[in-house]
Amino acid sequence: MSSSSSCSSSLTVIFVVFYLLVVSSNAQLTTNFYSSSCPNLHSTVKSVVQSAINRENRMGASLLRLFFHDCFVSGCDGSLLLDDTSTFTGEKMARPNNGSVRGFEVIDQIKSAVENACPGIVSCADILAIAARDSVVILGGPSWNVKLGRRDARTASQSAANNNIPQPTFSLSQLLSSFEDQGLSITDLVALSGAHTIGQARCTSFRNRIYNEIGYNIDASFAKTRQANCPRSSNSGDNNLAPLDLQTPTYFDNDYYKNIISQKGLLHSDQELSMKALTEGYANNLDTFFSDFATAMNNMGDIKPLTGSNGEIRKNCRMIN
Ligand code: HEM
Ligand SMILES: *[C@@H]1O[C@H](CO)[C@@H](O)[C@H](O)[C@H]1NC(C)=O
Repeated sequence: MSSSSSCSSSLTVIFVVFYLLVVSSNAQLTTNFYSSSCPNLHSTVKSVVQSAINRENRMGASLLRLFFHDCFVSGCDGSLLLDDTSTFTGEKMARPNNGSVRGFEVIDQIKSAVENACPGIVSCADILAIAARDSVVILGGPSWNVKLGRRDARTASQSAANNNIPQPTFSLSQLLSSFEDQGLSITDLVALSGAHTIGQARCTSFRNRIYNEIGYNIDASFAKTRQANCPRSSNSGDNNLAPLDLQTPTYFDNDYYKNIISQKGLLHSDQELSMKALTEGYANNLDTFFSDFATAMNNMGDIKPLTGSNGEIRKNCRMIN
């Protein structure tokens, strides 16, 4: 045997060991991760989410969105929840988040209830994943078993939040490449966008669409309705709200896709999905939407989790230990 082939086989061994270390430290999430360490986790989270939604229906939408904005920025690692400190600027003030993401107080309430039940066990990243599922279920959507076992980041990145969260002005190809960058498919893109069946958007997010897209991809009377509460000139009414789903913004259904088909998507990015046959499929079949949405939520939840000994289990979701 030549020295070069034994050299290359030991290189192979080194490579395999290295690969296993890296991949196993990025171990699989599992649905029963806390079943013995925190048996009451799911009921604890659900009751706090339920009372938050009882207080304000929109909170279900806000909690669902938190999970998305966490996962798309360096993985589902709770980085979104960190407050700014003297050593780093967090994600809360990044452009897609500032003045728009909400629900942090509810996450705090869930975290303290969970800490009472099982101190030091459950990550903030996993709490976001469970709260998102519970919100969807409470508002009438599908249920799924949430994969768990994420740990919390010890840092956050405002610039990554600015760069990685897709924008409402995006074209279909920009949306696709944003999702592809996260390892998500076109089915995930179209199914996850169905989250816009609940919640609200600010005038600043859809002003351009309702004034400048008339004549080619927006229903004229819908545009007019939305213009009534969203003045043309920026810096007036920027924060005025409109429902993302015209008919039922507090009920998780497939009306979002029906709106798109009738050119009544609120965001430019929503209306871009009209070019995909999947949109019509989901408009016509609630069950397919529900089952693809559930799958896509677990796919999104798989984005770069911290596992094993990486990261930490934060005591307070707003700050590292
Ligand atoms: C496909 C790319 C996406 C874009 C461009 C986008 C953009 C937006 C924008 C601009 C808003 C309104 C923000 C504001 O004006 O304050 C919004 C709201 C919302 N988004 Fe998305 N989004 C996308 C995907 C998603 C995904 C994947 C989810 C969750 C799975 C999601 C969940 C929500 C929810 C629930 C709201 C309403 C939040 C509330 O009422 O507090 N979005 N989105
Ligand atoms: C966040 O929004 C507030 C209020 O609109 C604004 O004063 C502030 O400059 C914004 N912060 C950043 C970092 O953009």
